[in-house]
Amino acid sequence: MNSSRRDFLMQSGAASVAAAAMGTQIIGAEPAKPAAKKTLRVGYVGVGSKGSQHVGHLLRMEGVELRAVCDIVDLQCRETQAQAKRLDKHVPTIYSRGERDFERMCADEELDLVYTATPWELHVPVCLAAMKNGKHAATEIPAAYTLEECWQLVETSEKTGRHLCMMENVNYMPDELLIYNMVRRGVLGELIHAEGGYLHDTRQLKMNDHGDGLWLGNHHATRNGNLYPCHGVGPLAWYTNINRGDRLDYMVSMSSKARGLDLYAAEHLPAEHPKRKRKYINGDVNTCLIRTVNGISITLTHDTDLPRPYSRNNLVQGTKGLVSGWPKLTVSLEVPGNPHPPWESGDKFRAKHESALWTHAKEVHAKLPGITKDFGPILKDAVWHYAPDPEVRHGDFLEDYRLVEALRSGIAPDFDVYDAATWSAIAVLSEKSVADRSRPVDFPDFTKGKWKKNPPIQIMGV
Ligand SMILES: NC(=O)c1ccc[n+]([C@@H]2O[C@H](COP(=O)([O-])OP(=O)(O)OC[C@H]3O[C@@H](n4cnc5c(N)ncnc54)[C@H](O)[C@@H]3O)[C@@H](O)[C@H]2O)c1
Repeated sequence: MNSSRRDFLMQSGAASVAAAAMGTQIIGAEPAKPAAKKTLRVGYVGVGSKGSQHVGHLLRMEGVELRAVCDIVDLQCRETQAQAKRLDKHVPTIYSRGERDFERMCADEELDLVYTATPWELHVPVCLAAMKNGKHAATEIPAAYTLEECWQLVETSEKTGRHLCMMENVNYMPDELLIYNMVRRGVLGELIHAEGGYLHDTRQLKMNDHGDGLWLGNHHATRNGNLYPCHGVGPLAWYTNINRGDRLDYMVSMSSKARGLDLYAAEHLPAEHPKRKRKYINGDVNTCLIRTVNGISITLTHDTDLPRPYSRNNLVQGTKGLVSGWPKLTVSLEVPGNPHPPWESGDKFRAKHESALWTHAKEVHAKLPGITKDFGPILKDAVWHYAPDPEVRHGDFLEDYRLVEALRSGIAPDFDVYDAATWSAIAVLSEKSVADRSRPVDFPDFTKGKWKKNPPIQIMGV
């Protein structure tokens, strides 16, 4: 048995006791003593807009040492170093010698975790380099966007015994966690249907000459489907036990015509601008309709190129009622004798079902060095934009906190490689269905049958 595999199994074993305490799901756990929390040594790849936010958390969290930072833009690495110095933390070594310098970082540095927030193209290469060098890997969404890459992640994680976590922050937002509690407590009865999506006007972002503007629009000019499905499917997958008792079975996907980005480019960019000259082909609104093996239907919408307010839909319907997350949390539960139960404000349900994990994370977040009530110092010394909504900031923090706590305690994180592969595969399968007149496409079973026995995920607060 190689040392990574042994380490993984030892950690899994140690996990069972700690998991019981933390309410965390463990796959393949063996009984053993809980491990003492260790310092987590992290290497970060891609400190742009989102990566800088994660790094801002990691530099302030107890028990984390940011040992290395990698970006093709040296200035951004130096900004991270400067932030570490200001916080009196270990100053990370810089890896900024070109496109593949993350490979040198993964090979040379003694790290427990490599975490990446690069453009989509690099998520798989970084995660593979990390796992093959004995490090756990965490990646921003989506983890991959071809089926081959999804399988590569699964096979490499299984072979090396390293965790691969795709970091879906939306799963930790307050309403998503509240609905999670309501589902687990049976308030909605047996689940029948769910709706999610990413409905966010990001036209301007794609037309920028910096940040996401350098790469995101390329996907909309070359692909047609549900390109960013993870925010929508993430929480629904937790509610419906995907890969943990149920499985995504098949899907049909349809795209509308594409108009939004062409019109936006024509209105905002000079005639000779390359982003104006190219044609955007991704349908403005894509809808996926998925059926699970256990008979739940799920719709996922991708709607990012038209003027509209933000939404993720997040509707969950069961035999006793339904919850709708947007534009405001509303609930309708069966009232015996009343064939027309009313919609009620979700606020009425907060006191009873608010997640204990959420409340806990809010307290920890508020105590982080440099994070004041208004987050002033962080905003000032980081190059990234911090989410303006405090609720979103806590959710963003909670995903990093959960990951760090799990890895420090030697227990399995909330997300596994099967989540990463399954949720990411939606994009490529939707492209396939769209290209074939919306005919059904089957989901691969990345778990190879393990989904039948895996227990539902349990997170603190239920
Ligand atoms: N979960 C969320 O809410 C959320 C929000 C925004 C972005 N994201 C995800 O985060 C990722 C990054 O998005 P962003 O908005 O921060 O983009 P960005 O363009 O601002 O940042 C990407 C960074 O990666 C660096 N980079 C590019 N090539 C590199 C290479 N070969 N080696 C090392 N570094 C390299 C860039 O220089 C840049 O600093 C994307 O996957 C995106 O989908 C997630």
